[in-house]
Amino acid sequence: MQCGRELRWHCVHGLLALPASVNLRVMANLTIRKLDDALKAELRQRAAANGRSMEDEVRVILRDVCHKRHGFAASFPQPGEDPAAPGKIESSSGKDEGFPSEPAASVRITLIVGGGIAAYKAMDLIRRLKERGAEVRVVLTRAAQQFVTPLTASALSHQRCYTDLFDPQSEFDAGHIRLARDCDLIVVAPATADLMAKIAGGHADDLATAILLATNRQILLAPAMNPLMWNNAATRRNVDQLKRDGVALVGPNAGEMAERGEAGTGRMAEPIEIAAAAQAFWTPQPQRPLLGRRVLITAGPTHEPIDPVRYIANRSSGKQGYAIAAAAAAAGAEVVLISGPVDLRAPDGVTLTRVESAREMLDAVQAALPTDIAIFAAAVADWRVESEGGQKIKKGAGGPPPLQLTENPDILATISKRGENRPNLVIGFAAETENLLDNARAKLARKGCDWIVANDVSPATGVMGGDRNTVHLLMNATDAVDVESWPLMTKDEVASALVARIAQTMEVHAP
Ligand SMILES: Cc1cc2nc3c(=O)[nH]c(=O)nc-3n(C[C@H](O)[C@H](O)[C@H](O)COP(=O)(O)O)c2cc1C
Repeated sequence: MQCGRELRWHCVHGLLALPASVNLRVMANLTIRKLDDALKAELRQRAAANGRSMEDEVRVILRDVCHKRHGFAASFPQPGEDPAAPGKIESSSGKDEGFPSEPAASVRITLIVGGGIAAYKAMDLIRRLKERGAEVRVVLTRAAQQFVTPLTASALSHQRCYTDLFDPQSEFDAGHIRLARDCDLIVVAPATADLMAKIAGGHADDLATAILLATNRQILLAPAMNPLMWNNAATRRNVDQLKRDGVALVGPNAGEMAERGEAGTGRMAEPIEIAAAAQAFWTPQPQRPLLGRRVLITAGPTHEPIDPVRYIANRSSGKQGYAIAAAAAAAGAEVVLISGPVDLRAPDGVTLTRVESAREMLDAVQAALPTDIAIFAAAVADWRVESEGGQKIKKGAGGPPPLQLTENPDILATISKRGENRPNLVIGFAAETENLLDNARAKLARKGCDWIVANDVSPATGVMGGDRNTVHLLMNATDAVDVESWPLMTKDEVASALVARIAQTMEVHAP
């Protein structure tokens, strides 16, 4: 008895003479066998040219016909799939008919599987890549076939699996060149020590290495091997050579190895990590408007010593400066972050120098110049103790010790007024507890910087140490000061908005 789904499937596609309960592979075989010789020869040639089996070529032809006739993406069961299995397809009626489907492939990947124990994970990688809309053609090395079979690879990829350089069926028109170039990316997973040595040495004595030598596409390797193999001097040399040749790597990760009791670096990255690294090659990268710019940022408080164990400090958490450093790095800038004592991790891609006092911060800032942009978000102490005690000051009968204060160097003014190596854009911060805008305007004029980011740090605002900020951006224009008042935002949002504003200005003033 035919179930409703089988009947519907039969009707929707309209082209098929048999109900869906009949395995399409059998049906396709019957159909192909019945074709006349000329048609069969043409189909064989077309299938080979597209790197598909004849059955898959028939599927593609039928899918195209259905698409054109009915205006919907027909879905045909693939080898090993149950035609009645639930999937999603939009029928011509617009309803989900519950048929299996695949996302339209937007990117083609040649996946080369090396002969390592992690080859079984490459089978999961096929799925992960397909989930991301990729069409995957798998090549197994001779050693890889000791770990996984071509049947598994083709059933999962829904494509013919390639194993042999001297295969007359696919080499009648140099199929290895097609596999090398008729793709957007080549992924090698697992990349064994042996395979990496061969690629680095330019070998081409089997299908995998011939493809890798003949390609002009990006290659992504996922190395997997025993930690001793990974750390071997020969492998290190090969990895260096491959990197110089522009080959990208994902992993290996640290962890336990298949060999009992062994651990270290050498585990293949997880399929999901490899798929994400691969996807990065075909996903538009975020805009990097500060690429090529060097940005200096100060953050956090300074600690001004009274004696070896006591200091004068303030409540700055450094969060706003660190957020700006992260946003600038994400925008492509080379970022130097000079930070007072805070409990924060350096953002990715940022060079961090830790300092304690205002004088140390000034020294570090001067050493970091020249930069295109300097942002002084640190809450630098205005004063320090004039003569710092060499030993811990003891409590005595004479009462509290007199602490004579002296002014610290003014880092913002020093850099703003610097003639040589002055950054093109110098931005200061004004943390005020009263008359915010008036004080900020006065500071802008006094210091000689280009912009001031003014924020109200009175205790009621929760800005000091908190995650949110309300700022006003004061910008020195030719004969006026432009003021932008931004709404309450998280410190990350303030950082992104400030970096976007900087990028806009740098673009206008680009040489
Ligand atoms: C059980 C077993 C597991 C292996 N695992 C790895 C491995 O994880 N990484 C590796 O580099 N070589 C491994 N080898 C050695 C490779 O199989 C061998 O070097 C082979 O020539 C690599 O072939 P390929 O260049 O086609 O990848 C393993 C060998 C055996 C017998």
